Amino acid sequence: MPQQVVTFDKTLGHDAKPSLPQPPGLRFRIEPNIESLSREFAMDINNVEKRMEYTRGVLDEESAGGDPIALFQRWLKDAIDNEPMDVTAMTLATSSPDGRPASRIVLLRGVDEGGFVFFTSYESRKAEELAANPNASLTFFWPTLQRQVRVEGHVTKTTRQESETYFATRPRGSQIGAWASLQSQVLPNRDQLEAQVAELEQRFKGGDVPCPPNWGGYLVTPKVIEFWQGRESRLHDRLRFTQQPGDVWLIERLSP
Ligand SMILES: Cc1cc2nc3c(=O)[nH]c(=O)nc-3n(C[C@H](O)[C@H](O)[C@H](O)COP(=O)(O)O)c2cc1C
Repeated sequence: MPQQVVTFDKTLGHDAKPSLPQPPGLRFRIEPNIESLSREFAMDINNVEKRMEYTRGVLDEESAGGDPIALFQRWLKDAIDNEPMDVTAMTLATSSPDGRPASRIVLLRGVDEGGFVFFTSYESRKAEELAANPNASLTFFWPTLQRQVRVEGHVTKTTRQESETYFATRPRGSQIGAWASLQSQVLPNRDQLEAQVAELEQRFKGGDVPCPPNWGGYLVTPKVIEFWQGRESRLHDRLRFTQQPGDVWLIERLSP
């Protein structure tokens, strides 16, 4: 597809308009006017930055203990008690076989000694990438607590039984949605999706909605878990747990 460069005349505000009309089907590379960007846009960012000092907590080796899953569970509990929104949201990063990364938010649906579980479509982009390269990372950010957790590990599918058991707990609308959505495929318009939902509501009327065959869970078995606690003057605490042979975790403090 041809690519055309468009520059903005003034600032990179939300109402900024490219200087040329966009013919359908043409992709644009947007080149902001750097001079005005540094003056107006960057100034706003700096103002936000100045208000931020990290003083909510401390992470030391003693309070962390030796078990990163137990520590994660304590931090998740703190987050549930303190974070107003989407406390189980995490950034899942995968990569294509040729090494191009992609990331998106998914929800954590379970965590124990075995690892971290989320659910999705087995035909989505992330599923395709995981089939080719079953390694992923997860990142949690709990801003109220000034905490971040990074997980790296190997990914496997949950059992069909586990997927079905979880699917059965979902609201009926989400269950129908899982059938209706060919996740990550291009849709011609919104109407087609809604027509699909209406058809499926008829099909499953009066009965339970079964778990779609192409839908289920993934388990990320952690090899590395890093806990980050924001500290004053950007001298943050970072403790990295790396799995060693024999179910032992190596604990290292990283420079902030
Ligand atoms: C707060 C939030 C929670 C989400 N939870 C999930 C989820 O649990 N599972 C999922 O498949 N997509 C979830 N999504 C949508 C994904 O971010 C993404 O759009 C979708 O999975 C398709 O990604 P892919 O094309 O890379 O496979 C969530 C998005 C947000 C913003």
